[in-house]
Amino acid sequence: MGNDQEKLVENSRRNWLIATSVVGGVATLIPFVGYLQPSEHAKASGAPVEVDISRLRSGEKMTVNWRGLPVWIVWRTSDDMDSLEKVKPELVDPESKEVFSYPMPEFCNNAYRARIERKDLLVVIGICTHLGCIPLGPYVANSLAALGTYPGFLCPCHGSTYDMSGRVFKNNLASKNLDIPRFMFLSETKIVIGQDEKGES
Ligand code: FES
Repeated sequence: MGNDQEKLVENSRRNWLIATSVVGGVATLIPFVGYLQPSEHAKASGAPVEVDISRLRSGEKMTVNWRGLPVWIVWRTSDDMDSLEKVKPELVDPESKEVFSYPMPEFCNNAYRARIERKDLLVVIGICTHLGCIPLGPYVANSLAALGTYPGFLCPCHGSTYDMSGRVFKNNLASKNLDIPRFMFLSETKIVIGQDEKGES
């Protein structure tokens, strides 16, 4: 990573810690599978992290620590998937042309921002692109005034909202979509974050 990117990641990491302490008592509406802890060695080296997703169910999110950043793995429901096309007019950058800190992997350059063989599985860095807080959610449609009839995520710090692909809605302080890290499947129930067929992030 270059100096600017390193600074950005470091800021995101610091803000994540702040956000964690601020919003620790806030409940989300969706079951939260929990954190998987990579080995000390993996954490120290920033190495790719292997994740077992066999316990993840439709509608759930799990969070993995990769390079000090929270990476979400979200199994989107059929309602979530249906919303991805409908929500486009409400988004700043529906095709994810703008890069935040990590360029979107080519294999996610499709209508789902996901690997096409598991298009319902969203893998995204859960750091708000405004000032680096951790958004909450996913919230189902019509459960949150800020999201209206769409499902998605809400940043608790200044209210920015994201759709079920991590794309930011218009009229928010955040103006870029959530980053997608490189990742790939090792099997149907195991993925690796921070690496794909072309190498490491
Ligand atoms: S940090 Fe998320 S809206 Fe400001």
